Amino acid sequence: MEIITAVEALKTQSRQWRSKGKTIVLVPTMGYFHEGHLSLIREGRRQGDILVVSLFVNPTQFAPSEDFDTYPKDFERDRRLAEQIGVDVIFYPDNNEMYPSEYKTYIEVSELGRKLCGVSRPTFFRGVTTVVLKLFTIVQPHVVLFGWKDAQQFIIIQRMVEDLNLDVQLIGMPIVREPDGLAMSSRNAYLSSQERKEATVLYSALQKVQSLIGEGVTEAAQLRSEMETIVRSAPSVRIDYIHIVSLHDLQQLDHVEHGKTLIGLAVFIGNTRLIDNIRV
Ligand code: PAJ
Repeated sequence: MEIITAVEALKTQSRQWRSKGKTIVLVPTMGYFHEGHLSLIREGRRQGDILVVSLFVNPTQFAPSEDFDTYPKDFERDRRLAEQIGVDVIFYPDNNEMYPSEYKTYIEVSELGRKLCGVSRPTFFRGVTTVVLKLFTIVQPHVVLFGWKDAQQFIIIQRMVEDLNLDVQLIGMPIVREPDGLAMSSRNAYLSSQERKEATVLYSALQKVQSLIGEGVTEAAQLRSEMETIVRSAPSVRIDYIHIVSLHDLQQLDHVEHGKTLIGLAVFIGNTRLIDNIRV
């Protein structure tokens, strides 16, 4: 496994792989791997000849008040795990390599980036789409894997790929959960043991609406209020949003439409912001 830190070196390498007819697969990450990341990397290994995992804590997707400086890191462990799975290249640039001092260009997918998580994090998705498009240009992948854990991120990247006619195939991977249902996230490491216990309300709320929908309930207002009751039962949890929206354009729905609906929520537990969702 090779660790490449320079943009030009990886571009040259990717051009060579492409000229030899190799299929290049990319898994973009910010590191501090957990089973969610590893499931993407394992599937990525199956999807093509050359597997590149990018590991870059992207400063443009953090607001000044957010956790950029304290975002958890363990490069040695990540390197070992990637090597065990058979990753070919870890792309590990520093900030200056991705955003030199004269950097000015941002990609914004309008409207979609202002909904759900975009209300409390207005510049987040423009940071994500900017870095992801840069990664596409540098790695020149045929196939790129993302997790449905970050459903809005995936929907926005799908929109960008379609709108800009990008030649990549996107694969969305299922959410990997802890045994008690909490969606795996690098930020779970911030939770105290009491907060960790309370964090199970996100998935409990989603399971409850799933079963209500199974019983035939479709009214969004009713489903949202059932979720609120469960989430509010945890004293340290503050709701950022609970939304029932179209998977296509993230517009609010009055009624669940089967196969086309995203039910997502974001909460703060202490200072930690957690998200989760289901598709129904
Ligand atoms: P990061 O949070 O490190 O996540 C990297 C990828 O792993 C994303 O596609 C995310 O959806 C996926 N992932 C995270 N937790 C998961 C889980 N529990 N189950 C399944 N997949 C999971 O998302 C980012 O980084 C960044 O925004 C990035 C796309 C790399 C751009 O900087």
